[in-house]
Amino acid sequence: MAAGEVIRSMLTIRPKLTIRPMPPTRSMLPIRPMLPVRPALTAVAGVLTSPLTPDDYRAMVNPLWSRRHLSGRVEEVVPETPDAATVVLRPGRGWQRHLAGQHVGVGVDIDGGWHWRTFSLSSPPGRPDGLVTITVKAAPGGFVSHHVVHRLRPGAIVRLGQPTGRFVLPDDLPSRLLFVTAGSGITPVMSMLRGLALAGDRPDVFLAHVAPNGPAVIFGAELRRMAARTPGFHLHEHHTHPRPRRRARRPTMADLAAACGDLPDRPAWVCGPRALLDDAEAYWRAAGIAARLRTERFQPVARPSSGPGGRVRFVRSGREVLAGAGTSLLAAGEQADVAMPSGCRMGVCRTCLARLAGGRVRDLRTGEEHGDPGDIIQTCVSTAVGDVDLDL
Ligand SMILES: Cc1cc2nc3c(=O)[nH]c(=O)nc-3n(C[C@H](O)[C@H](O)[C@H](O)COP(=O)(O)OP(=O)(O)OC[C@H]3O[C@@H](n4cnc5c(N)ncnc54)[C@H](O)[C@@H]3O)c2cc1C
Ligand code: FES
Repeated sequence: MAAGEVIRSMLTIRPKLTIRPMPPTRSMLPIRPMLPVRPALTAVAGVLTSPLTPDDYRAMVNPLWSRRHLSGRVEEVVPETPDAATVVLRPGRGWQRHLAGQHVGVGVDIDGGWHWRTFSLSSPPGRPDGLVTITVKAAPGGFVSHHVVHRLRPGAIVRLGQPTGRFVLPDDLPSRLLFVTAGSGITPVMSMLRGLALAGDRPDVFLAHVAPNGPAVIFGAELRRMAARTPGFHLHEHHTHPRPRRRARRPTMADLAAACGDLPDRPAWVCGPRALLDDAEAYWRAAGIAARLRTERFQPVARPSSGPGGRVRFVRSGREVLAGAGTSLLAAGEQADVAMPSGCRMGVCRTCLARLAGGRVRDLRTGEEHGDPGDIIQTCVSTAVGDVDLDL
């Protein structure tokens, strides 16, 4: 019998086993306390379908039903600019509603391997159709972002983490807000703006956005429409290459302050490339108002690649993988198909914490080596120094 037929026959047999349980008789009284019906049936099905688990079969029928891997189906890929696209996703079972400004780990299957990156959600929270969007800009030479923008098609399945992140608006909204964004840094802010557009009592919003030119502005048409129609929404576009063959001119914070007269008085959310964030942090610090600034960084930490690496064992999952010196334990776990919790993937959100069961690790940000059994480590910024056991 061909493998497909075997699987089909198992799938058709299984419901007969699960939906018609024998009525209990006295002789069948359990010796141990009876499990709740659903877990008990799942356990029986697990034995019958070994080595695959019932979840594997659920995922075969519909990947969005899997409980082990939270997934999403690509419903649509909408080009935004020549090198950016919005991916409309239907998240599977277990997805938790996001807050505007949060991001999510997305695993993309490229040539048979899952590759994880973090993307901000660009849709407002709680869309009535249950869909969410991410908006991706193809980074120069970027492996995953190029695939997402140019090759991902409707119907594809991606894996998802849960939304996370603290780059969000407070419950108690200030009356005036400032957003400074550049390039794909607009994505978390777009989720906030779209959420605010649906809200009744809107604050006064100033958005300064930096892009090479008008057509390169992600969500350009929507932002300009919003600015034209929404009282209290001010859009300032700074184009660094307004005309071809002219030298690029990156704005300084002083330029932005000139465009927004009350800039220091507004609580600010800034997202974009490293240089913009460094400038913003220096400006707000020098003005003595650093507490009013919230930033979101997209670029991962620099990764020194010295050291031996080692074999990483995921004790509870029963998997192991060889990881090089520059490979984070998070990436190693994903390569080994272990369900790894993750968020920012750059040492900020602490979603990726795991207990070290043995071995030592190196912090990819500082190069420092540390670790005793029982230590809690951030897998996204830790690499193996020799063999390592993780309680995952
Ligand atoms: C919290 C968070 C939210 C993010 N949200 C978004 C989002 O909404 N939209 C989006 O497009 N991206 C977002 N990113 C960035 C994204 O996760 C990837 O880093 C980016 O898409 C590049 O991945 P890649 O596989 O294409 O590049 P890689 O193949 O990993 O890297 C290739 C080259 O690109 C450079 N590079 C890596 N990242 C960037 C970057 N962000 N910008 C420019 N060059 C880069 C690398 O230095 C390297 O030289 C976010 C990152 C974080 C941490
Ligand atoms: S994934 Fe955010 S700290 Fe590790």
